[in-house]
Amino acid sequence: MAQEDSSIRTLTVDIGGSGIKVLVLDEAGKALTERSRVETPQPPKPDAVIDAIAQLASGQGEFHRVSVGFPGVVRGGVTQTAVNLDPDWVGFDLATMLSERLDKSVRVANDADVQGLGAISGKGVELVITLGTGFGSALFLDGKLVPNLEMGHHEFRKGETYEQQLGRAALDKAGEKKWNNRLEKAIASLEHLFNYDCLYIGGGEAKKVILQLPANVKVVPNVSGLLGGIALWHD
Ligand code: BGC
Repeated sequence: MAQEDSSIRTLTVDIGGSGIKVLVLDEAGKALTERSRVETPQPPKPDAVIDAIAQLASGQGEFHRVSVGFPGVVRGGVTQTAVNLDPDWVGFDLATMLSERLDKSVRVANDADVQGLGAISGKGVELVITLGTGFGSALFLDGKLVPNLEMGHHEFRKGETYEQQLGRAALDKAGEKKWNNRLEKAIASLEHLFNYDCLYIGGGEAKKVILQLPANVKVVPNVSGLLGGIALWHD
């Protein structure tokens, strides 16, 4: 692993409902370390998750600042919702608490927003959805983010939300074929709603997408959820 002493190294963290992942990025957003992962602690309360991040961070070598993708609404470093984690996250100042723990500056954003920042081209209307434990969404215009788009909890079909129809629990219950059929319907519905130039599909379950995708829909690797972390420092 090449050590560039002069460059700022960013530890980027993706907190998920089933796993917590980290790696270190250089200033251009290129990965400098191997990704490491632990299972999300159960119950996924703030203290336990911060312990898990600190443990992962200690195995990543030197870093100077930290970016976090969090699976809920985040405002000013404070987590405001966390439907797939624990109610203790509501109103939790994650940026400050993690900064005290790691003794580094910390920036936190919604996980789908970070995933999107790592995937988009920066041109036109770009929509990102993430398929994992939950259903994440992010919207960009010419690379500028509309933060905390929470489409997952809005009604999609049959009286159920996007997350209820397409989250991991639904995938496990319905099976891959049915889940792909639902995804095809979701894509059609989102295309009519957003008239996007490009839709990106990320998240841990994006690898299960087997349907024939329209030309303006792309599957992106889940590592984008970490690579996007560098963009939180572009200001
Ligand atoms: C949350 C979103 C999050 C998504 C993916 C949803 O349940 O409400 O904020 O982006 O899961 O983790």
